[in-house]
Amino acid sequence: MNERPTSTPASSSATSAEQVLLRADQLTKHYPVSQGWFRPKAISRALDGVSFTLAAGKTLAVVGESGCGKSTLARQITMIESPTAGALWLDGKNVAERDPALLKAVRPLVQMVFQNPDASLNPRKKVAAMLEEPLIINTRLNGAERMEKAKEMMKQVGLRPEFYGRYPHMFSGGQRQRIAIARALMLDPKVIVADEPVSALDVSIQAQVLNLLMDIQQKTKVAYLFISHNLSVVEHIADEVIVMYLGKVVEHGSKADTFSRPLHPYTRALLASTPRIDPAQRQARLMLDGELPSPLAPPPGCAFHSRCPHAVERCRHETPLLQHFKGSRVACHRVSEIA
Ligand SMILES: Nc1ncnc2c1ncn2[C@@H]1O[C@H](COP(=O)(O)OP(=O)(O)OP(=O)(O)O)[C@@H](O)[C@H]1O
Ligand SMILES: [Mg+2]
Repeated sequence: MNERPTSTPASSSATSAEQVLLRADQLTKHYPVSQGWFRPKAISRALDGVSFTLAAGKTLAVVGESGCGKSTLARQITMIESPTAGALWLDGKNVAERDPALLKAVRPLVQMVFQNPDASLNPRKKVAAMLEEPLIINTRLNGAERMEKAKEMMKQVGLRPEFYGRYPHMFSGGQRQRIAIARALMLDPKVIVADEPVSALDVSIQAQVLNLLMDIQQKTKVAYLFISHNLSVVEHIADEVIVMYLGKVVEHGSKADTFSRPLHPYTRALLASTPRIDPAQRQARLMLDGELPSPLAPPPGCAFHSRCPHAVERCRHETPLLQHFKGSRVACHRVSEIA
């Protein structure tokens, strides 16, 4: 475990003046994995004690290599799965307790936008039906009111309302992602979890969709949990950044701090592998050797030690706690020596 559970917000992401919408406290998801007949099940520690807060109108980016637990985190926050341990506070209520009435009431507050609109939109349904569906399930609006709200939402995401009766294949990739965003917004959510929302789009379209997300946030004060492996995208949109490694947070800080002076050797390596246009922003080259170890058998001590150029004996057997350092939170024994 990275940190002991606390009763105060686990991070600096929301000051008391801001409205904390979401608070994850030691959120944990372990999956049992079959190892074959007659062998005990192994445990995949996909998410291992993650804590943060998210305030209205803010964007918290989650970055890390493939398999570090980003989508697992998204599934807990959207309440698609129930966490193995930990608490998830949404609007002041702990939804990790899985009370069915509470879940029904709060689920509409958190919506999801997926990477690939082709997979998330039903090709056999018209835009009209897809946008109205959440209203039919969750509201008592009549047909005319639903149509009005759906057309209004199409305008908000930059689509022409007269395309209301079209099918998804009649739109471009960028437009389809706008439809998915519109659908996520239909119930006026407080939080949108976006899992690689622009990764499947052309680079020229990515900026347009990111700008749309930021415009929507300005108008509605919706909070984003924004998952991306692309640090240039994160630099564009985030207020704060969480860096994950093998299900744990290794660094959490403001976007400015994380990008200008990354503290954890893993964050540095991730940034060094991202092309930067501004020479002043380029990091010393630090390659990430080897693959992410399996969450079925994470290395003992600091899980990053097997790939870390700064690892010493202590890192091999003692798990570093996530601790405050220079305004960020970092889990590294050697941070004060190497930062
Ligand atoms: N249902 C499951 N059962 C067992 N293991 C799982 C399950 N879902 C995820 N995992 C494992 O948990 C780890 C984290 O997976 P996850 O999909 O959250 O990673 P990710 O960071 O989203 O990766 P990517 O960038 O590739 O989307 C992986 O090792 C994955 O194999
Ligand atoms: Mg994923």
